[in-house]
Amino acid sequence: MYLQRRNRILRQSQAVRSLISETHLTPNDFIIPLFIDEGENLRTEIPSMPGYYRNSLDVTVKEAKELRSMGLKSVLLFIKCKDELKDNKGAEALNPNGLMQRSIKAIKDAVPEMIVMTDIALDPFSSYGHDGIVDGDQIVNDATVDVLAQMSVSHAQAGADFVAPSDMMDGRIGAIRKALEANGFTKTGIMSYSAKYASCFYGPFRDALDSAPGFGDKKTYQMDYSNRIEAIKETIMDVEEGADIVMVKPALAYLDIIREVKNAVHVPVSAYNISGEYAMIKAAAKMGWLDEDKAILETLTAIKRAGADLIATYFAKDAVRLIE
Ligand code: PBG
Repeated sequence: MYLQRRNRILRQSQAVRSLISETHLTPNDFIIPLFIDEGENLRTEIPSMPGYYRNSLDVTVKEAKELRSMGLKSVLLFIKCKDELKDNKGAEALNPNGLMQRSIKAIKDAVPEMIVMTDIALDPFSSYGHDGIVDGDQIVNDATVDVLAQMSVSHAQAGADFVAPSDMMDGRIGAIRKALEANGFTKTGIMSYSAKYASCFYGPFRDALDSAPGFGDKKTYQMDYSNRIEAIKETIMDVEEGADIVMVKPALAYLDIIREVKNAVHVPVSAYNISGEYAMIKAAAKMGWLDEDKAILETLTAIKRAGADLIATYFAKDAVRLIE
């Protein structure tokens, strides 16, 4: 058989495959979400996220040092707020001595080179478990944006390098940028969850922080997963309003969106390999149905290939171990 072109020539050995491979994971690609709890010397495994923990702040600081020594450069902080501190307006989110603010300071003091990013949304602080202020059955936009802007300034004051609004209210990026500028925080970045979909895959995360919505769902602010154009609209607006980094979330069922966003904007694009995506791999591996290490590498490489410059993932430590 005569063939002018044989594609298998480029796949014939590991050496040849390495020469031409297009996508490589490095420790610089990852953002590590950390769940922080009150208390001391506490490590609580999250039932729906086997192998992942909610830690007290002292343990978190040790963890941050370890992550840095592995070459990881950035953490994304989430805190579990005590029930008695939750209200409708997220007052605790603005407490200068709140768990989030103390965590930012402690990590920056212990590991100054670690880039500390913080979640901006009301859900962990909300008695309703919603990302915004509730009025009747509505999640009100503008009043929420005011609180989110104040929350961002509070995190910047505590030392956050980037604030990461995950709430999907309209106009919050512009309001946050304005508030940061007004308060002299000209070096604080904004990583916007620009295209965040209303997804069932957030379930395990809501277990981790006890932040599931008390009524209804998040469909009036998070996006409809049947939509594509809306993702581009949201992202372009966030860039215009001042986002430094944009994000697509979730990642795996949204690889097409990651690619379209990557082609549409000229800022770094991140993707969040979320809790449910972690749980699926863990569960299948536990059953012996998937090779966990291979599934992790294939998943993260696919997210990067789709166009993510950065990946927030609970698998970051595993990935570093596997790529070294
Ligand atoms: C809350 C927030 C959520 C996640 C990050 N920030 C959950 C939600 O929107 O209900 C999900 C992360 C994950 O599932 O890993 N604003």
